[in-house]
Amino acid sequence: MAGAAGGALAAAVSAAGGVGMIGVPAAPAEDWIQSQASYVSELETPWGVGFMGWALEENLKPLEAFLEYGPSLVTISFGDVTRGAALAHEAGVLTAMQIGNAEDLERAMADDIDIIIARGAEGGGHGRNEVGTLPLLQLACSQHQKPVIAAGGIGTAHGIAAALAGGADAAWVGTRFLSTTEATGHANLKAAVRESGMDDTIYTRAFDIAQQLPWEPQYGGRALSNDFSRRYAADLDSLQATDELREKMKQARAEADVSLAPVYAGQAVEFVREEQSAAAVMEELRSFRRILAETAQRFA
Ligand SMILES: Cc1cc2nc3c(=O)[nH]c(=O)nc-3n(C[C@H](O)[C@H](O)[C@H](O)COP(=O)(O)O)c2cc1C
Repeated sequence: MAGAAGGALAAAVSAAGGVGMIGVPAAPAEDWIQSQASYVSELETPWGVGFMGWALEENLKPLEAFLEYGPSLVTISFGDVTRGAALAHEAGVLTAMQIGNAEDLERAMADDIDIIIARGAEGGGHGRNEVGTLPLLQLACSQHQKPVIAAGGIGTAHGIAAALAGGADAAWVGTRFLSTTEATGHANLKAAVRESGMDDTIYTRAFDIAQQLPWEPQYGGRALSNDFSRRYAADLDSLQATDELREKMKQARAEADVSLAPVYAGQAVEFVREEQSAAAVMEELRSFRRILAETAQRFA
């Protein structure tokens, strides 16, 4: 989760038994890479790093830099993954790709991708808005060749249990960690996340258009709905991508004005109610094992 999951969150998740991921922004500074990597490079448990495909197409250096620190997993999503995946494989690192429809799945079946992340439209941040997590998971599992991770809308132990019972090998959880103490992000954003429920999100390209970001149109983003997205999400044609608006949006982000700036979050925002440590969230999520065991007993 670029902007939310830096090295501190990734390290805390990995230390608690997960595979913590650093979300890399489109054009990270060298010293940002160094400082985030310093949280994870000495870990004895696996950690990973996630990139946007379209950003790597332009510049592979951030991936090269992170590979120096020994990640166990590199995810590349949204755009052409070919060069990035080749580089990760050269370094002997596992690759994963988020898929959002059948065409993405076909691409992810090529040899350069090891793990498929079935990421449904309920998820926070950028991605496709075509298929929900459950139908996508069933599609991804039908290939029977590569491990599948379920993503999108999973925020509780019951959600993880459902994904695993549905055939996933693991669950990929983003939004649930947005208000952890280790997550980066202004206090206003974390508070907005805690105050929102599952029907307070909106999927839109309005924020990308306003900021003049080069996201391809099939990848909008799911964010908390606010004054700006309520005005434009259903009426993108009336949104003028002026320099003035771009500056206003930049300022709103700097000031964490959540009525204008995007707060990316998925429908699992419902389950974020307090500021917790990542370890406390992991502890809660771990009870998926008990839920699965009880379910198995019920149907034995
Ligand atoms: C704030 C935020 C930022 C995100 N940034 C990225 C990103 O930079 N790269 C990426 O591949 N996915 C990104 N995602 C998507 C996540 O990888 C994942 O698909 C999503 O969080 C899963 O759904 P969930 O939010 O319902 O748990 C982001 C998600 C959020 C909430």
